[in-house]
Amino acid sequence: MRIRSLAYAATAAGAVVAAASMGVFAQGPDMKMAAPTKAIAVLIPTKSGALKGIDGTITFTKVEKGTRVVAKITGLPEGKHGFHIHEFGDASSPDGKAAGGHFNPKGMVHGDPSKTAPRHLGDLGNIVANKEGVAEYDMIDPDLPMSGANSIIGHGVVIHEKADDFGQPVGNAGGRLAVAVIGIAKGE
Ligand code: CU
Ligand code: ZN
Repeated sequence: MRIRSLAYAATAAGAVVAAASMGVFAQGPDMKMAAPTKAIAVLIPTKSGALKGIDGTITFTKVEKGTRVVAKITGLPEGKHGFHIHEFGDASSPDGKAAGGHFNPKGMVHGDPSKTAPRHLGDLGNIVANKEGVAEYDMIDPDLPMSGANSIIGHGVVIHEKADDFGQPVGNAGGRLAVAVIGIAKGE
């Protein structure tokens, strides 16, 4: 038993050295657990979106009044396109359906983020593409958390074929042109 416990002690000491060399101890537990302040989602076109050459990035940055969502997307058909955070950060299906339904951890009904009415947390409204197919979006959302139980990190983003008309249950925005996974950004 003595030998076994010595072996255990040696392993534990080795783990401490390894952890320290990785910077875990140098940063301390608070640094390691710090909430992300910036997240990024890079669009992956679905099968129908790929034909149009859709491309773009969405960033989520913690600001004083909430989370600033900035998107620039190219290759879209002119007009409004439903823009939501969906439940799953899963871009594996060619039709985008693996991303599941709207991210709705609070069990709300679908809604318009520009109104104060209840909404799915993932309801970001619409992005609007101009004649050149370029859509830009820049909004501060007071309710989108990047940490805690309802964190958006790891969930998905979907750009839809049609406009979100804020009808029930999910806005009638039709098929999916592109999906993305929200990940922690590398930072500045
Ligand atoms: Cu959607
Ligand atoms: Zn919704």
